[in-house]
Amino acid sequence: MNTKQIFTCALDMGKAADPRGKAGVARWLKIMKRNWDDATPARKKELDAERLTNPYMDSRIHFDSGKKVTKALVGIDIGSAEMLLADTLGADLVISHHPHGNGLAQLDEVMHLQADLLHATADVPINVAEAIIRTRSQEIARKLSPLNHHQSVDTARLLNISLISMHTPADNIVWKHVHDLLAKTKPDTVGDVVDALKKIPEYQEGLRRGEGPTIFAGERTNRAGKVVASEFTGGTELGKELYLHLARAGVGTVVGMHVAEDARVQAQKHHINIVIAGHMSSDSLGMNPILDAIESKGIEIIPCSGLIRVKRT
Ligand SMILES: [Fe+2]
Ligand SMILES: [Fe+2]
Repeated sequence: MNTKQIFTCALDMGKAADPRGKAGVARWLKIMKRNWDDATPARKKELDAERLTNPYMDSRIHFDSGKKVTKALVGIDIGSAEMLLADTLGADLVISHHPHGNGLAQLDEVMHLQADLLHATADVPINVAEAIIRTRSQEIARKLSPLNHHQSVDTARLLNISLISMHTPADNIVWKHVHDLLAKTKPDTVGDVVDALKKIPEYQEGLRRGEGPTIFAGERTNRAGKVVASEFTGGTELGKELYLHLARAGVGTVVGMHVAEDARVQAQKHHINIVIAGHMSSDSLGMNPILDAIESKGIEIIPCSGLIRVKRT
């Protein structure tokens, strides 16, 4: 496989698990196409044509050496240290979960998918969900603006090792895994939510590493009520404003990878339970099915940087 084929495999798997469904993804790409067509020639020069085919602007090929891939170093966070490690270990490709380069600079562009997710799974009115996300994504864009987005990309280019990131495609996969599990197990209490998560191997390893599924708000014996896996995909957390609207929509328990302290306080204020599954373990649960698919094509996978590798095939 070459770098492009590996990236396309991740995109396809991410689309198949997208909370918007196939039609929702197609709708988004259609909006991007219309915006492109409406842009003046001068504006087109400033726009990134990637968004016409890739619905996840936080995930992309950052550098392609053109070499056939036989060995890939894969981690949750990739920095220049991991790029040098890849060179030492003879890897042709480095795969990062968290975004880099243009993907990091445009992380805010995937947040809109959370509007559909909140509307479909938590019954938050679509107009309210879109308004929360619009404000929050602008805030995230400003926060990301001063970062050194291309540091690892520049290292990849100098070492002539391909670099790609798979962020939202993998986060869609973990979201679907947890969403389907909760729909199937129908947990009665918050403790039941935690126990359901503890059956997943990545979370069992998370427990051994001291970052297993934990209750951040509420008690084990609390009734779970309407359970929503709202903090797994769509770029990053929506922040504290969300909890008032989740309470109004009748949500009892939020399940996520991580939550900021001010958001946790708001959840408690609105009597919403929070179960945090774990960050590295959740990101690994999203990455592993993609890595299984790549590995089945004969590519050696070397896990690093927080990736908990569990094979399912
Ligand atoms: Fe993630
Ligand atoms: Fe993450």
